[in-house]
Amino acid sequence: MVSRRNWMTSVAALPAAAQAQPAVKPKNIVISSSNGVECCNIAMSWLRAGKDTLDAVIAGVNVNELDPNDNSVGYGGLPNEEGIVELDACVMHGPTRRAGSVASIRGIKTPSKIARLVMEETDHIMLAGEGALRFAKTMGYAEENLLTEKSRLAFLVWKRTMKDSNWSDGVDAPPGKSPKALLRLFPEADEQTLAWAHEMAVRPPTGTINCLALNEKGEMSGCTTTSGLAWKIPGRVGDSPIIGAGLYVDQEVGAAGSTGRGEENIRVAGAHTIVENMRHGMSPPDAVMDALKRVSRNYDNDLKRLDKFDINFYALRKDGVFAGGSLWNGQFRGAGFVSRKFAVNDGTGNSRLLDCAYLHERPRP
Ligand code: GLY
Repeated sequence: MVSRRNWMTSVAALPAAAQAQPAVKPKNIVISSSNGVECCNIAMSWLRAGKDTLDAVIAGVNVNELDPNDNSVGYGGLPNEEGIVELDACVMHGPTRRAGSVASIRGIKTPSKIARLVMEETDHIMLAGEGALRFAKTMGYAEENLLTEKSRLAFLVWKRTMKDSNWSDGVDAPPGKSPKALLRLFPEADEQTLAWAHEMAVRPPTGTINCLALNEKGEMSGCTTTSGLAWKIPGRVGDSPIIGAGLYVDQEVGAAGSTGRGEENIRVAGAHTIVENMRHGMSPPDAVMDALKRVSRNYDNDLKRLDKFDINFYALRKDGVFAGGSLWNGQFRGAGFVSRKFAVNDGTGNSRLLDCAYLHERPRP
């Protein structure tokens, strides 16, 4: 468990705004996961232009969904175990208290927009799989190939790293399991891309982007969108499209969302738990830390098992006080250590990355 010293240190790392007492007047503010620096910039520009908070967060996450180099979201996301990209997303609109969601949708680069259409144009909240794609097509979206060459390379490297597979072992299998052995198929891939593909194969990521917004009228919305766990079983649905897990918004209290291993979040209904914690008087940092403790408790606080995954929560209270928190302080990568961050734009300039509060300190591998 986190020591009091660590907890106080990580809370102290939050900016004054995040620790202040509730402000009287709401203000424009956007927070997101660490991959959302540009997302927050865009969302803030929409808020400043007086647009609706849901328009703002969707415009923000569209940056990641359309970015072929964000391999955890939308186009370019890492595929399932059959090499097919399947996406999950949900939205919540505070002013109307409505929600929409799509799960395991294929062939659409911007699932956040389809989630919104489910909310606005149907009597349902969630569409999944083939039905979600058919709905998107009915609404005028074209089916596209979401697998980039970079993601296809990572997929083949993953296949090669599997034991007892037709791709790696056996008397007539291709020689050489190392990523380099694939260079004849990807002659343009460089060393760095191969190293990245190998890292993705051995540590399947659960990236994702969550974005939460508050405007000067006190209106709030949120969106979470992802390609989910890399190499998942087709049809696996994570927390991102689950209202109450990947996202929850009640603008009379605040909003919360999550990134990381969705299975753990679903088990604690993280986003709803955090909003309810805030409703009952917890500060955003305390509300986030409580959700992380629930995740940790599900493994009896066994650090060896918890070390196998990451999970992060984000909270934005209706008065603009916010927090980001992670199960772990960060991750060892090569010779270095990458600490957990989240992105904030408070309307005073470009988005900033701030350190997340954390529950546990990652042991050295
Ligand atoms: N949080 C993303 C996922 O687990 O699918």
